[in-house]
Amino acid sequence: MNFDLTEEQIAVRDAARDFAQNVLKPGVIERDNEQRFPKEEIKQLGELGFMGMMVDPKYGGSGMDTVSYVLAMEELSKVDASASVCVSVNNSLVCWGLEKFGTEEQKEKYLRPLASGEKIGAFCLSEPEAGSDATSQKTTAIDKGDHYLLNGTKNWITNGSTASIYLVMAQTDAEKGHRGINCLIVEKDMDGFIVGAKEDKLGIRGSDTHTLMFDDVKVPKENRVGEDGFGFKFAMKTLSGGRIGIAAQALGIASGAFELAIAYSKERKAFGKPINEHQAIAFKLADMATNIEASRLLCLKAAQQKDAGENFDLASSMAKLFASKVAMDTTVEAVQVHGGYGFVKEYHVERLMRDAKITQIYEGTSEVQKIVISRSALKA
Ligand code: CAA
Repeated sequence: MNFDLTEEQIAVRDAARDFAQNVLKPGVIERDNEQRFPKEEIKQLGELGFMGMMVDPKYGGSGMDTVSYVLAMEELSKVDASASVCVSVNNSLVCWGLEKFGTEEQKEKYLRPLASGEKIGAFCLSEPEAGSDATSQKTTAIDKGDHYLLNGTKNWITNGSTASIYLVMAQTDAEKGHRGINCLIVEKDMDGFIVGAKEDKLGIRGSDTHTLMFDDVKVPKENRVGEDGFGFKFAMKTLSGGRIGIAAQALGIASGAFELAIAYSKERKAFGKPINEHQAIAFKLADMATNIEASRLLCLKAAQQKDAGENFDLASSMAKLFASKVAMDTTVEAVQVHGGYGFVKEYHVERLMRDAKITQIYEGTSEVQKIVISRSALKA
């Protein structure tokens, strides 16, 4: 595979890096402390074209490829994973799914404001008793002729309160199992839609994660995405692309921690020399560099396969599985390199360590990725 970047891809990466360092970084510690969503920063990212990166310009998107998306996600996530998860969900789970499977009317009404960043989207699959076991949906969407009657609860929804357009998976015909699930587009101001409690989280504390409740919400039939019963496959296909975004987020968290560790190891002296001249530290840095490069190659491979129109399910799961472990390992080691300073907030690295953990959980736990990967290996 050729991993050379085009001039356009380099320009996207540099623009994301510039934004992350100059706009996201100054307030990131405060937002994390206060659990404050980066509202103004996300608005600016929308204006710069980062909220609908891969959407066709005819729907208000930026028309970029998935490789550019990976590069941007890495740069944003080096600094602020709370902002980057909002970017990732909007791009991969909401815009991509609507563009690929939505009707022309849905694209005009919903995709256009999402792609320009005017509105934010959320993807609602997880439930109190349906996380990894996503086929066990308890939320119901009963067919009432011209509309569906939606009832149920969704948990851990990213962009839960800041979104205004929600893709909600719900069971219409329980007898058909996963083939009876539909994906409905729900608007925030529909009667019976309630934004519930906000989660108080270990990491990505600036991202707003909520429980959502649906109490007899009437969703017009024209808001169903795809054919009747396509909802579960819609979710799986969309999540495959989402996993590339989260793998790139994990890559960014790891490379952000690595850059901090490198800089600190040059400044800090112990036993008469910079600590990076001690093998105890140099070997850690070598492992980090190698693992991060391997993560990057897996992310780029998955992105290239998606851009080439090939099946990328396996590559995206491998990228996410590997990059999220590297994010966890690298951030723990980066804190260690910093010693006592690594344990205090102003050095940024402890936040990256807390943020890393979620990349092994959302959009499919590491165990879910192993199911996808082992099934593929056994089929081969
Ligand atoms: N593309 C298309 N179809 C797919 C597919 C894919 N990638 N993966 C599975 N399917 C289809 C299968 O072909 C099958 O259809 P048929 O019966 O018609 O052949 C159907 O879906 C069911 O598939 P499985 O039998 O493989 O389903 P399973 O129950 O064994 O589960 C699983 C497989 C991989 C564990 C899956 O349930 C899964 O991915 N779970 C995790 C869900 C998840 O990622 N949740 C994250 C929530 S969203 C989030 O985190 C967003 C956020 O806010 C950040």
